[in-house]
Amino acid sequence: MSKIKKAYFCQHCGYESVKWVGQCPSCGQWNSFVEEVVQKENGKSKNGWDDYDGKKRAGRTITLSEVKSSEEKRIVTEDAELNRVLGGGIVSGSLVLVAGEPGIGKSTLFLQNGLWLKEPVLYVSGEESEQQIKMRADRLGLHNENFYLLTETSTQVIFEEIRKLKPRLVIVDSIQTLQTPFIESSAGSISQIRECAAEFQRFAKETDTPVFLIGHITKDGNIAGPKVLEHMVDTVLQFEGDRHYAYRILRTLKNRFGSTAELGIYEMGENGMKGVANPSEILITQKEEQLSGIAIAATLEGVRPLLIEVQALVTQSVYGTPQRTVTGFDLRRLQLLLAVLEKRGGFHFGVKDVFLNIAGGLKVEDPSIDLAVLCALLSSYEDVPLSQHICFAGEVGLSGEIRAVNRIEQRIAEAEKLGFEKIIVSRYNQKGIGKQKFNIEVVTMARVEEVYQYLFN
Ligand code: TYD
Ligand code: MG
Repeated sequence: MSKIKKAYFCQHCGYESVKWVGQCPSCGQWNSFVEEVVQKENGKSKNGWDDYDGKKRAGRTITLSEVKSSEEKRIVTEDAELNRVLGGGIVSGSLVLVAGEPGIGKSTLFLQNGLWLKEPVLYVSGEESEQQIKMRADRLGLHNENFYLLTETSTQVIFEEIRKLKPRLVIVDSIQTLQTPFIESSAGSISQIRECAAEFQRFAKETDTPVFLIGHITKDGNIAGPKVLEHMVDTVLQFEGDRHYAYRILRTLKNRFGSTAELGIYEMGENGMKGVANPSEILITQKEEQLSGIAIAATLEGVRPLLIEVQALVTQSVYGTPQRTVTGFDLRRLQLLLAVLEKRGGFHFGVKDVFLNIAGGLKVEDPSIDLAVLCALLSSYEDVPLSQHICFAGEVGLSGEIRAVNRIEQRIAEAEKLGFEKIIVSRYNQKGIGKQKFNIEVVTMARVEEVYQYLFN
């Protein structure tokens, strides 16, 4: 009897099935199952790192108190933003998945971080040649004697090299290019990705070496690759941002050693990625004269307050169907806000084209941006500029009420720090701000009609 084990995998979500099916029972995708060899006949040989530090590893049960606490053993990098998203540095023995669209800057950021570290680092690249990486390092202007490079895709060869080198940190770029000889399917397939990641997981845990796995995702974010790994790794970092803009956000989606509310902000420049310590200051363009259709929102990304400029353009529709175009904001949310204005305020957006843009190419999910979006729309509709010294924080409900948002004091403090004179927030937030004294004027309102009266009359 053949010992070769095969299975069918959904290439969309990674669902495993013993037989072929037309529609994936897990994600509902049609025609996504592909047969993959899960295990070759020769089975698994020993791991490449078995005698990594001279200690023989054997399965053995121990009491919890026998375990040496290693919580505080973190490598603190030069990159404050990376430290922040990891919860205070790289935890030894942790496996970190860094996911992002191609071209967003994953290789740049981790090459840069590898070159900054004093400890020996092994950078495994299956995508670029040594020359290409060297060129990139030259562009970054960095040089480090402790930085080792390996262009290889076979995990067994990689572990062989790791055993010789004993690096303190391993960076794998990317997990989709790796191939383990124990599985026959091609690199990038679900079973390969899963098995290669599993090998690195065992390696990280058994040798206490942190490993970064870089993984690509496509625009819709749910291509099988990195998604199927999320449960295996300790930390998942997601790289976001528009390739055509300079700003990038590194978001923690999962972290066994820290908060998932953390966020790193970078700016991609000529010489690599630079951490941005005061993002609000750059996201708000300083203008000589104020233009209509612009409003500033005091949002919160994770636990970081961020003041963001919202730009709206409302014009007479020239075609039969009015257009609604958004960047960085949810289209359905815009339609909802327009419906609220139409119904509660009597504005006729039905005959207007509406364009909405969040400055800096950021994608904002915080609902507290609603009020600023609404005010930007009204400002453009009326063609009356809003004051430069006013900002907004509030969610807008279906009946036109302004709803309270979380961490209001933090938002107000950030607006104050940036020199705003007024912030408009929900009346229901009032008791949250009772105790503290701010220099900025906090205006509370309950309904969008009130805001309209206040701003335009
Ligand atoms: P890269 O790190 O290769 O992206 P990924 O690994 O996520 O696919 O980034 C590629 C982009 O970054 C490319 O369009 C060029 C740009 N870039 C800069 O703008 N400045 C730089 O210093 C470097 C190295 C790259
Ligand atoms: Mg890359």
